[in-house]
Amino acid sequence: MPLVRTLADATVVITGASSGIGAATAYALARQGSTVVLAARTEPALREVAGRCRELGGRTLVVPTDVTDADAVRRLAATAMAEFGRIDAWINNASVGTIGLFDEIPAAEFRRVLEVNLLGTANGIRAALPHLSAGGGGVVVNNAAVLAEVAMPYQSPYNAAKHGVRGLADTIRQELRATGRGSISICTVLPATIDTPFFRHAANRSGRQVLPPPPVYPPEVVAETIVRLLRRPRREAYAGGAARLIGMQWRLAPALVERVLGWYGRYTQFGAPAPDSTGNLFRPDAGATVEGGWPGRRRQLVRISAAFGLAAAGTAVGTAAALARRMNR
Ligand SMILES: NC(=O)c1ccc[n+]([C@@H]2O[C@H](COP(=O)([O-])OP(=O)(O)OC[C@H]3O[C@@H](n4cnc5c(N)ncnc54)[C@H](OP(=O)(O)O)[C@@H]3O)[C@@H](O)[C@H]2O)c1
Repeated sequence: MPLVRTLADATVVITGASSGIGAATAYALARQGSTVVLAARTEPALREVAGRCRELGGRTLVVPTDVTDADAVRRLAATAMAEFGRIDAWINNASVGTIGLFDEIPAAEFRRVLEVNLLGTANGIRAALPHLSAGGGGVVVNNAAVLAEVAMPYQSPYNAAKHGVRGLADTIRQELRATGRGSISICTVLPATIDTPFFRHAANRSGRQVLPPPPVYPPEVVAETIVRLLRRPRREAYAGGAARLIGMQWRLAPALVERVLGWYGRYTQFGAPAPDSTGNLFRPDAGATVEGGWPGRRRQLVRISAAFGLAAAGTAVGTAAALARRMNR
């Protein structure tokens, strides 16, 4: 079910709002006149995003919150309720990553990625549900990634957490329907690679500079997808054509595409030698910056989309040939 009220009258909580897609989504909603409740750890960056939202026409509230702290996330919801009297939508967007081979990522970093990306999302949904129910319905949007459906090497905790987010969303959706609370929609967004500061924020155990694997899409592509989901909720939505294509290829020929993406991830994610770092895993580091500054990788969009298109055609032909061989046997 869509929002109970129009976006102009809606109160929307956004986690991870101090940077990248979270900030872009806050701006997109502010342009609709929505009230946005902005949460992340970096208070000055949240205040900067809030200022811009007000210029664009939205009402704002800043609530510094670490999503791994379930009590703090409950307080975030209570503060929004106390200020605006209702919550219409909740966007779980906060995220961290650590890049490296599975057996070279320290266990504490692996755990932290799961705590922020998966348990932080669970904390958000748990805090939101009673208020959405009390308001007669609403929408939860979990910003996952196409890596909730496919895998990419050097990102094992991120992939595992995002696959978990997708499974969690599917289960909660079933439970809400089974218990007569179908007026609350649970949506999962599966973006392709997006031009945000994420790749600079991520912890790094690879020994090389981390680069976004192309094709890279602007953050607004995801923000617009989220706004569309608030108007017309769906189970899942891809953001960026490459995500839809890779998802389709993975479903058609998982073993083949797993191999191809393994190779692709090995050769496109890394630049010059770089020291290890824990990035923003354990300390806030946001600067209210929407874009990551990877325009060169954006320009590869057309070329790489064409390559993915050819690969899709190849996958379809290969799958059809395999099916035909099987039927002839
Ligand atoms: N960029 C991509 O290529 C891409 C692709 C697919 C999906 N996504 C997803 O898009 C979402 C946004 O990522 P982004 O690309 O915009 O990255 P980003 O610029 O690094 O933003 C991540 C946000 O999460 C916040 N955050 C991190 N740890 C937190 C914690 N413990 N508690 C609360 N907030 C926390 C950060 O702010 P503080 O440091 O202030 O806490 C920041 O606002 C994530 O869910 C990501 O997985 C990104």
